Amino acid sequence: MSASTKETVTVTNNSTGKQVDFPLHSGTIGPKVMDIRSLYSQMDLFTYDPGFTSTGSCKSTITYIDGDEGVLLHRGYPIDQLAEHSDFMEVAYLLLKGELPNVKEKADFIKAITYHSMVHEQINFFYRGFRRDSHPMAVLCAVVGSMAAFYHDSIDIHLPKDRMIAQHRLIAKMPTIIAWAYKYALGQPFMYPKNSMGYSENFLHMMFATPCEEYKVSPILAKAMDRILILHADHEQNASTSTVRLAGSSGANPFACIAAGIASLWGPAHGGANEAVLAMLQEIGSIDHIPEYIKRAKDKDDNFRLMGFGHRVYKNYDPRAKIMQRTCKEVLDELDMHDDPLLKLAMELERIALSDEYFIEKKLYPNVDFYSGIIFRAMGIPTSMFTSLFALARTVGWVAQWNEMIEDTDQKIGRPRQLYMGAPKRDFVPLNKRP
Ligand code: CMC
Repeated sequence: MSASTKETVTVTNNSTGKQVDFPLHSGTIGPKVMDIRSLYSQMDLFTYDPGFTSTGSCKSTITYIDGDEGVLLHRGYPIDQLAEHSDFMEVAYLLLKGELPNVKEKADFIKAITYHSMVHEQINFFYRGFRRDSHPMAVLCAVVGSMAAFYHDSIDIHLPKDRMIAQHRLIAKMPTIIAWAYKYALGQPFMYPKNSMGYSENFLHMMFATPCEEYKVSPILAKAMDRILILHADHEQNASTSTVRLAGSSGANPFACIAAGIASLWGPAHGGANEAVLAMLQEIGSIDHIPEYIKRAKDKDDNFRLMGFGHRVYKNYDPRAKIMQRTCKEVLDELDMHDDPLLKLAMELERIALSDEYFIEKKLYPNVDFYSGIIFRAMGIPTSMFTSLFALARTVGWVAQWNEMIEDTDQKIGRPRQLYMGAPKRDFVPLNKRP
């Protein structure tokens, strides 16, 4: 590890009196990290950290978050500047390669992604095995996992070129796979990707066009979709990204690793929150009912939580949520829906929660998922598809982090230890002798 300082932290075992110095490493920014890799060999101890709240699982150069200040940087660039001035393809390039592309690099990258967007025609038949009412995340997980069967022998994960092609395939095919999951649920024909369109425009086209008539994607909605994809593209070592890294640490096929990430993202505490926010707003129903739900969110005996509020890392306003709120207003204006009752309800809920002692004290602020569902709904995207759109964007982060892990010379198969609380060693009792 290159970031070593001369500083150490001394750990003393008060029972044995044994003392060991552990090195401290410092990153470019952020808190220092204590290197405990030799803890077990030197002290015969493991750490105990459920939820990994104090554990750095890897070193990374991709994304930096300062949760107290509400800062999110990709390769050093603030998220608000990227959302304002860049586009999703450029941000994808930045996350994968480390630098913003020049004109030629950008054109080449877009071409590479565009020409991988069609999926193998056999995948078309794979969908037909699902019930039409299957949850799109279940379909997505299975179809992406099945791609391992199409591209297994052709990938040597130790070759940078093979990894790059796998990254491009995943970014390129994800819009097609997601739009087809939607079309399948509707019983409409699959729309094939159109190479003349931009990434977000093409996705909306595959979602909403039919072969029967011309469909024009609104440039404002395509831009809003592109911005939403930027806001969800990466978020350092969150649950799904850590899942991808852990699955990949065994050398598994990248398509299988991304399918594992999709499964992890699905949960309501993670990417499933955007779907849960809309369900919650619909359940609350009107501004008069907000106090009742705020009361429930604060009640320890009630497992209701304010969805779209709180974050493991942000103890300040999630910087993505601010941009999302602005985008939400722009989209609703474009669609002539500025009086949308759900937006009004969400804004009032946010206002009341942010002035409530419980939320202030626990530093619970709106997160990225709080407004995204309202935008998706206004665009005509059904609630069950929301988390798939998060997966569409996060695929870029997943493949960038997967590649970084494989290139890391410190990388080992992920294998945490445990605090065993089960029965001590005992002898087997035959069935006829058991009480
Ligand atoms: N509503 C009410 N109380 C909450 C909420 C909430 N949304 N979030 C946290 N708390 C309380 C929690 O009860 C706990 O109280 P106490 O200290 O008295 O036990 C305290 O705040 C800390 O919560 P925690 O669950 O220990 O914190 P965590 O870091 O493990 O959880 C979280 C983070 C995002 C899972 C949680 O805030 C939550 O469940 N939020 C709602 C779901 C949500 O919006 N998820 C999307 C996250 S952002 C998108 C993404 O990255 O996927």
